[in-house]
Amino acid sequence: MKKNNAGDFRYAVGEKTVPWNAVGEFYDVEDAVQVARFLFPTQEPNSEYQSGLKLVQEGLMKMRQQGKPATKLTLGKTVQKAEEIIAEYTGSKYACLTTNWTAGMEIAYKLSGLQPGDEVIMPAITFVATMAYPLSIGAKIVFADIDPETINIDPADIERKITPKTKMIVPVHIGGTPCDMDPIMAIAKKHSLYVMEDAAHGLGGKYKGKSLGSIAHFGGHSLHEVKNINSFGEGGTLLTNLDCGEQFSKARFLGLDFTKKIKNWLYDISPIIDRFGKPQVAGNHSFTEIQALGLILQMKRLDEIIARRKKAAQKMNEILKQERGILVEKADTQETYGTHHLYLLRIEPQIVGGTIQELTKKLSDKGLTCITHFGPMYRFNILKSFGYDEESIAKSCPVTERMFDTSYTHLPLYPLTEEQINFQANAVVEAVREMKSNK
Ligand SMILES: Cc1ncc(COP(=O)(O)O)c(C=O)c1O
Repeated sequence: MKKNNAGDFRYAVGEKTVPWNAVGEFYDVEDAVQVARFLFPTQEPNSEYQSGLKLVQEGLMKMRQQGKPATKLTLGKTVQKAEEIIAEYTGSKYACLTTNWTAGMEIAYKLSGLQPGDEVIMPAITFVATMAYPLSIGAKIVFADIDPETINIDPADIERKITPKTKMIVPVHIGGTPCDMDPIMAIAKKHSLYVMEDAAHGLGGKYKGKSLGSIAHFGGHSLHEVKNINSFGEGGTLLTNLDCGEQFSKARFLGLDFTKKIKNWLYDISPIIDRFGKPQVAGNHSFTEIQALGLILQMKRLDEIIARRKKAAQKMNEILKQERGILVEKADTQETYGTHHLYLLRIEPQIVGGTIQELTKKLSDKGLTCITHFGPMYRFNILKSFGYDEESIAKSCPVTERMFDTSYTHLPLYPLTEEQINFQANAVVEAVREMKSNK
């Protein structure tokens, strides 16, 4: 009988194998045809579409006669290959793919030894995912104010907000614009803190030659469908250069440990050992083979995608800089290379004669999409319900308050044509002129 190889096995166990077939029900030809329809949907299937679909079906049928259905659907060789690609691309010693970046962050928080009562400093402006795990275990979120030029965390305010209870700093490269990492890492070193880079928007970006997400103790990216690239809709990368990266595969899958099996058992369940030598319980944050395939395919296009977005951002800057009162996005420098996930539009309200809220209303009327997705986290009801004092936090983040209410929004750069970029930029100029004339 043919021996199973490691690739047949459900869980990554190196050379070891187990004697069962690692799959439930197969996916077969008709399912694959439906996947093709899903990837290229149409409301009105015309005869061309139908004949294309028939060709797909016939082609797949021939493939099916020669091949066999895939039996390894999660945590297999494709995941391993995708992790090697990410590790190499980002220059990281360890890379782990997780269900999404929220799950990746959970692992990083656990390995960092975060406990109830500890304080985590993060920017006031981010997405809720950054604070979800600390909040869920009863750690305290401390919001640092932002740099008005990038809306990223302000290192000077981090320093001001450190207390004896601070355990971690979590900078976020909002929109793919790199945070100033050197001062953040220096503050962390001075106070023996761990830093996790939330580089959800940052895959492919650089700071002083290092990949975003690979600079701090931990970091990672989101591969959610709205990001520059994705892994069939969900996914995350988790990176580290620390030795604890050896625990990633155990931390990703419930602590299953095949290297230390217990008596009469195939495996043991081990805790994750955190930074302070304490045990932590692992969750299930697995990544599927099809997600990994999607990532491998899109990684081939990542650099080109970023270059295209960068060109679009430059065009936006070129048009917008001509109008007084509009502040253009910070361009890349010799030290920074952003991913241009979003375009940061800022205005000077006193010159424009109104706030960003009025401007975004006008822009929507002109058919533009304003991405009002990144605002002060302390305004969410969930924080109130955990006893956070919204108003006193707001007072401690004056730049966040001013910028959010009056001065910034995000615009998309996602595959917009040159014509669409011109339209978008000109619509902003037009709307600002209208506001000025109504002053
Ligand atoms: C700043 C930020 N952090 C974290 C996340 C979470 O990423 P994921 O959706 O992959 O869990 C996102 C997702 O949009 C994000 O924007």
